[in-house]
Amino acid sequence: PNQLTVLGIESSCDDTSAAVVRWRKETGGEILSNVVSGQTELHAAFGGVVPEIAARAHAEKLDLMVEAALRDARVTLKELDAIAVTAGPGLIGGVLSGVMCAKGLAAGAGLPLVGVNHLAGHALTPRLTDGLGFPYLMLLVSGGHCQFLIVESPDRFHRLGGTIDDAPGEAFDKTARLLGLEQPGGPEVEQAAVAGNSKRFPFPRPLLDRPGCDMSFSGLKTALLRARDACIKREQGLREQDRADLCASFQAAVADVLAEKSRRALAAYLALNPPVPMMAVAGGVAANNLIRARLEAVCTEQGTGFVAPPLALCTDNAGMIAWAGIERFRRGETDDLTLSARPRWPL
Ligand code: KG4
Ligand code: ZN
Repeated sequence: PNQLTVLGIESSCDDTSAAVVRWRKETGGEILSNVVSGQTELHAAFGGVVPEIAARAHAEKLDLMVEAALRDARVTLKELDAIAVTAGPGLIGGVLSGVMCAKGLAAGAGLPLVGVNHLAGHALTPRLTDGLGFPYLMLLVSGGHCQFLIVESPDRFHRLGGTIDDAPGEAFDKTARLLGLEQPGGPEVEQAAVAGNSKRFPFPRPLLDRPGCDMSFSGLKTALLRARDACIKREQGLREQDRADLCASFQAAVADVLAEKSRRALAAYLALNPPVPMMAVAGGVAANNLIRARLEAVCTEQGTGFVAPPLALCTDNAGMIAWAGIERFRRGETDDLTLSARPRWPL
């Protein structure tokens, strides 16, 4: 076909989202609509996403999101070519809600169903936003994920390494919690770090002494906790400047680790002699200005292009799922109504 219009559905964590994306042979992908409804307030009191609450909220919101996505795109169900849905990995209740919704729509409208791996959705986004060709290097850094992938085709991802414990976003969120800042912690910590001294606390840079691209961020949290308690003990409370210095020192440690491991991942990728060397980022942590700048510097130093899609497409959204669905569908890959939801689904 010369043109495809696909509805995407995403509900694997705490965002309920639906989107319509159109692909044209001459012009590539175009997002016609992409609506996202978050659940931050629902989980705020619990200090983390509660799976049961998330699943119920998805089930309540999905129909409305699909309706809004179709309306915004000025597209009817009949004009769609397929329905794409996140089939995992993620919180199983949420994934199931999305898969059930997609199956109902596909069966009702007689449309093909395309199950999408959520991580593939993130990893393929730079092809939608910047038309990247294969292979490119991807760093996926979010609240739940942290890995380097060489993206070779819509369904071939070579994993170079990743976190062996926490994801960086999770570390930002925990840091914020330890310092009495709001959730999600990333933007709060970044903001507080502006006025801070990043050299005051020599936090660890785990695994830098070991070869390879694996990372670790859980030790950082323990170091931060100790430094915080030392400040509190010394001054009978946490002063504004201490908080800023802790945030700046923490952020610098995360940025150092990501930059150095990116340098190594880039070397492994460049050894493949890619025709157009490109590195892209995805995930909420890609919003961080220091981290973004450090990664871009590593790329520039190695003669590699650097792509950071707009933030709304870096974080969880159904636009990336619709796009990944288009990529699969164009290769003739579809699923039937036996498609199952998978809590774990490595690329
Ligand atoms: O991709 P995302 O929206 O959701 C998933 O985790 O799948 O990423 C959210 C994560 C949160 O942990 C949040 O604290 C982090 O991204 N984040 C940031 C920034 N903005 C969001 N981390 C560091 N700096 C930021 N500016
Ligand atoms: Zn995600």
